[in-house]
Amino acid sequence: MKIIVAENYKELSQKAANLISAQVILKSDSVLGLATGSTPIGIYDQLVDRYQKGDLDFSQVSTVNLDEYYGLCSTDEQSYRYYMEKYLFSKVNLSKERCFLPDGTNLDGKIECKRYQDLIDALGGIDLQLLGLGHNGHIGFNEPADFFEKEVHLVNLTEQTIQANQRFFASIEEVPKQAYTMGIGTIFQAKKILLVVNGKEKAEALKKVVQGAICSQVPGSILQLHADVTVVADKEAASLL
Ligand code: GLP
Repeated sequence: MKIIVAENYKELSQKAANLISAQVILKSDSVLGLATGSTPIGIYDQLVDRYQKGDLDFSQVSTVNLDEYYGLCSTDEQSYRYYMEKYLFSKVNLSKERCFLPDGTNLDGKIECKRYQDLIDALGGIDLQLLGLGHNGHIGFNEPADFFEKEVHLVNLTEQTIQANQRFFASIEEVPKQAYTMGIGTIFQAKKILLVVNGKEKAEALKKVVQGAICSQVPGSILQLHADVTVVADKEAASLL
């Protein structure tokens, strides 16, 4: 794992955006694996800025998002599709036909998981996967569990994750209890992985991911085994390393 420590959130966003920009410049038809949550927002702002300045072209890029809430439709402001439209898709020249997320409105988990896994496989896998980190060490929505789920699956969110994500909803009752997520195997097949971690409250989780035992109770710890992982963390998140 390569670890880059940034002075603050702005620098973290710039450094991570540099790595994504380099990927798109070097391979114009890259498949980018994208993430949601508060951490990547600054990165998407940077990418939009670079696109507007004429430094980046997304016209040949495909994107696949890590996850989506079960039951939410694209017009729901809390859905990850809505988030991606707001922060990135509507602001750069990505082709709408090449921006993919799990379909939260497909309530048949078996069919939707297979559809999304097959879609990623058909794209030839992911060139660069952007990841945030949950407080409990989750990546995507791969929650602590007794084993690593390999493929796209429907997951029951833990109480801790529901509480952490409550800030985006009017009340805790509105937070979906389930989500579709890429599996650990899906993520692991990405050629490169970029993990971004911000803030003191993630320091413990990042320490476990980078230096702890590799175990399914800390899903992100599996990244220690991947051949090409870059972690970009701000000083506070990296403070226990
Ligand atoms: C959610 C997402 C994850 C994300 C995590 C952390 O659970 N499914 O992909 O990494 O939140 O989000 P934040 O960056 O807001 O802390």
